[in-house]
Amino acid sequence: MTLIKDSTVKENVSPTEEFLREYKRLTPLYLGAMKNVCTRFEILDNEFGELQGHDPIHHIESRLKSAESAYEKLYRRKIAQHPEHIVKLNDIAGVRVVCSYIEDIYTIASLFLKQPDVKFLQCKDYIKNPKSNGYRSLHLIVEIPVCLSTQQTSVPVEIQLRTISMNMWASLEHEVSYKMDVEGIEAYKAELKDCADGLFALEERMQKICNGIRSQTEILNEE
Ligand code: GTP
Ligand code: MG
Repeated sequence: MTLIKDSTVKENVSPTEEFLREYKRLTPLYLGAMKNVCTRFEILDNEFGELQGHDPIHHIESRLKSAESAYEKLYRRKIAQHPEHIVKLNDIAGVRVVCSYIEDIYTIASLFLKQPDVKFLQCKDYIKNPKSNGYRSLHLIVEIPVCLSTQQTSVPVEIQLRTISMNMWASLEHEVSYKMDVEGIEAYKAELKDCADGLFALEERMQKICNGIRSQTEILNEE
């Protein structure tokens, strides 16, 4: 067993043989859960397109955390890097749902969470409560049932829902956060925070235009 002493010390970065073996065994479960969640969002998006005449989802991304990254995260979380502790991580399967408008995020998230076999575990609303750096997204952790040949298990999936501009902002911020030695980094971070707030204000204005147009279209359709 590997015991964690200090999360700032970058040791134990290479997974052990038994860790990798267990990771490989669990992969079909996480892959199944990830695909399952993506499909559910695609179905909701298609239904919306047919019924309401607009697609709330712009695109969906997904990723499986690598064994190395999971191993490192256990270390960071001060959890012993034991194969049986892999299941303590809730973000091995990750799905990112990128929507056109802010309200679409909440509509699509609540429809997804109403599905009877989706078990809600956690919600972090970084849209209503943005992080101090300006980061905005709605984060959900859910459990989804996955059936393999010999077992049925509930598998956790981390879902991030955000708008196109929140996604663009997060990509740049992610890049900046890894460049600590760049000259003027603090000024870039302050500028990024300003951009996040500016983008959000623009999105709120665009949401109002969108709602105004859609409500008039609905009235015309009813007439
Ligand atoms: P992690 O240890 O990073 O997984 O964070 P956490 O378990 O406390 O969860 P949280 O919901 O805060 O963040 C989960 C994921 O959201 C991260 O792995 C990133 O993909 C994304 N995220 C969270 N905060 C930020 C941020 O400030 N900037 C960017 N670019 N992405 C973020
Ligand atoms: Mg994470």
